[in-house]
Amino acid sequence: MIQLSGLVICLLLLAADAAMADPPPMAKPNCQDHCGDISIPFPFGMGHNCYMNKWFEVVCNTSSNPHKAVLSGIDMELLEISLDDSRVRVNGPIQSSNCSNRRRTNNNSAIISLTGSPYSFSSFNMFTAIGCDTSALLNQVMPQITGCTTTCSANGSSSKACSGNNCCQTTIPTSIQVFNASLEGDSGCKLGFIVEQSWFRHNITSPWEVQHMLTVPVLLDWIVQDDDFKARAKDSDRIDCANSWWRRQDQERYSYMEYTFPNSSCRCIGGYDGNPYLPDGCLGKTSVKKLASFYKKLIFQGQMLCT
Ligand SMILES: *[C@@H]1O[C@H](CO)[C@@H](O)[C@H](O)[C@H]1NC(C)=O
Ligand SMILES: *[C@@H]1O[C@H](CO)[C@@H](O)[C@H](O)[C@H]1NC(C)=O
Ligand SMILES: *[C@@H]1O[C@H](CO)[C@@H](O)[C@H](O)[C@H]1NC(C)=O
Ligand SMILES: *[C@@H]1O[C@H](CO)[C@@H](O)[C@H](O)[C@H]1NC(C)=O
Ligand SMILES: *[C@@H]1O[C@H](CO)[C@@H](O)[C@H](O)[C@H]1NC(C)=O
Ligand SMILES: *[C@@H]1O[C@H](CO)[C@@H](O)[C@H](O)[C@H]1NC(C)=O
Ligand SMILES: *[C@@H]1O[C@H](CO)[C@@H](O)[C@H](O)[C@H]1NC(C)=O
Repeated sequence: MIQLSGLVICLLLLAADAAMADPPPMAKPNCQDHCGDISIPFPFGMGHNCYMNKWFEVVCNTSSNPHKAVLSGIDMELLEISLDDSRVRVNGPIQSSNCSNRRRTNNNSAIISLTGSPYSFSSFNMFTAIGCDTSALLNQVMPQITGCTTTCSANGSSSKACSGNNCCQTTIPTSIQVFNASLEGDSGCKLGFIVEQSWFRHNITSPWEVQHMLTVPVLLDWIVQDDDFKARAKDSDRIDCANSWWRRQDQERYSYMEYTFPNSSCRCIGGYDGNPYLPDGCLGKTSVKKLASFYKKLIFQGQMLCT
């Protein structure tokens, strides 16, 4: 009798382990979920029918090493996607003026317009200007005037901090979609860019390092507009989180939608992992884990081994 129940427990444990070993899907069925090391979860996707709409299309260049992902709708190189925060990290441009040793960017490619797209600059970025006696201004973000001015002391050891001497920073207005800076001043090389602030603080040692970079990391917020949900609801790929809380009978899978009508984002509820944008995308892993560790302990003390 003890043997038999041990066997039952073993089978239960194996079933639980199998459930745990199965990670929740991130991409749509039959779609690639990675470009190189970059995870591409739906609503993003690569290839026909794999993304929600053109703004979430990712083109993966497999001939570059490492593979390079581009958000083709806004023509920016993609570094990371976060579903939880509705944010992407991309490579952003650097505007420059009078920099002799800087590779010239073609035409106006240093200007970004995200107007009409679901992307906007996140408030985790700062507008940053580098140069001597430089006055930097963000154009086309009226009515606010956003900019800063640098002074011009000799480059000292204190140049790490961007606090006015050869480097200045300012916060950007909420949800701006255009980057087009003016850089004014008579002397030397001047740079202007929007940059992920924690990267700028922690990953570079001197502001002048940026002079030799072609791009800087930038965080963009993204939203899913309600029309997309309506459109998807018509076919089999309907997004269940559009109906607020929901539940399937055989397995516990939950997601909910955060309403900022008509723009929205989906979340898995606490303790559930996965992709809330896919039907059955949120998987209740926590309860399975607890169950498995409980049975493991029981079996260990009873000297019972699963083979
Ligand atoms: C892909 O990357 C390679 C190597 O960096 C480059 O030569 C090629 O032009 C890229 N292809 C596209 C479509 O961007
Ligand atoms: C540069 O701009 C001109 C005029 O705006 C345009 O005709 C040309 O195609 C652009 N070149 C590149 C490489 O974007
Ligand atoms: C929804 O998103 C669009 C496009 O980003 C934007 O123009 C609009 O103001 C947003 N609406 C709300 C209520 O946030
Ligand atoms: C950038 O801003 C300047 C000043 O407002 C404007 O003249 C120029 O047309 C803008 N460039 C683009 C590409 O919109
Ligand atoms: C500081 O260093 C940068 C890069 O080496 C240089 O372009 C700039 O002119 C220097 N500024 C001063 C005030 O020496
Ligand atoms: C470029 O910088 C040099 C100093 O390095 C300065 O003499 C010149 O006036 C600057 N030119 C412009 C157009 O800002
Ligand atoms: C910044 O540095 C941290 C740790 O040093 C690293 O984990 C992270 O990937 C870096 N970020 C970027 C954008 O390079």
